[in-house]
Amino acid sequence: MLVLRHQRGTPPTATAFVEQIGERILIVACMAREPEHHGLVFFHAREISSFCPMDTTPAFPTLRLVTHPLVQHKVTLLRDRSTPTKIFKELVDEIATLIAYEATSELALEPTPVETPLERTTGMRVSGKKLTLVPILRAGLGMVDGVARLVPSARVGHVGLYRDHDTLEPVDYYFKVPGDAAERDFFLLDPMLATGGSAAAAVTSLKRAGATRIRLLCLVAAPEGVRRLADAHPDVLVHCAALDRELNSQGYILPGLGDAGDRLFGTR
Ligand code: PRP
Ligand code: URA
Repeated sequence: MLVLRHQRGTPPTATAFVEQIGERILIVACMAREPEHHGLVFFHAREISSFCPMDTTPAFPTLRLVTHPLVQHKVTLLRDRSTPTKIFKELVDEIATLIAYEATSELALEPTPVETPLERTTGMRVSGKKLTLVPILRAGLGMVDGVARLVPSARVGHVGLYRDHDTLEPVDYYFKVPGDAAERDFFLLDPMLATGGSAAAAVTSLKRAGATRIRLLCLVAAPEGVRRLADAHPDVLVHCAALDRELNSQGYILPGLGDAGDRLFGTR
């Protein structure tokens, strides 16, 4: 298998084998090179090419499922009702790091000069203003350190929302993000996307503040929530570890993991 950097257009020898997979293009081609290099060649539409384990689902075009085995293993531990608060917190933190690794894979890069001990060369760096993490209070707080481990210079804003127990609609109580929102990428953090009301309201508030590039990072989503967010904000991609079956009559995700905030902070 040979993984090549992005090439504009399709090599003429490979056109018969092109297949569109989500946002990526898979090209199976025989290369006129060494025999061990014959095989699969991956191209995609970004500057740096990698075979990224992200699943896209045609029914949920905004959803990016993180199917990495470690993520799936850890989500199962998270679901387990006997997992204690300390371990639950550690798992949320670890899964947040792994999801962030996927969610940051499409950040724009720019060349930058660098002096190695031997010579001057050109490296790459993430371009633009610092990424901004925005946890939805309370449960989103459990994801901040895990994401910041990968992007330690990220700014952190906060959105305070809770679901009204009767209507299940979000009630908004706090909002603070950096002033120059229009120039930043935002990662909205919340472990649970249930009815989608909280995430949709948080995105609306971010957009009102000027944000234009927003992604949601969550651990468990219900189909209802993914659809509601996509209807309200089709530009917002959702990077998520699990797409569950449905909501129950109280708006809890099934099979889910229970109340994320209560399990994180031991308030059950
Ligand atoms: C949970 C969760 C989300 C919201 C998801 O928070 O952390 O913010 O519910 O539900 P939705 O998609 O139906 O809006 P909750 O309202 O329980 O507040 P808490 O984090 O303060 O416990
Ligand atoms: N909020 C949670 O914490 N869990 C759910 O299942 C739904 C909303």
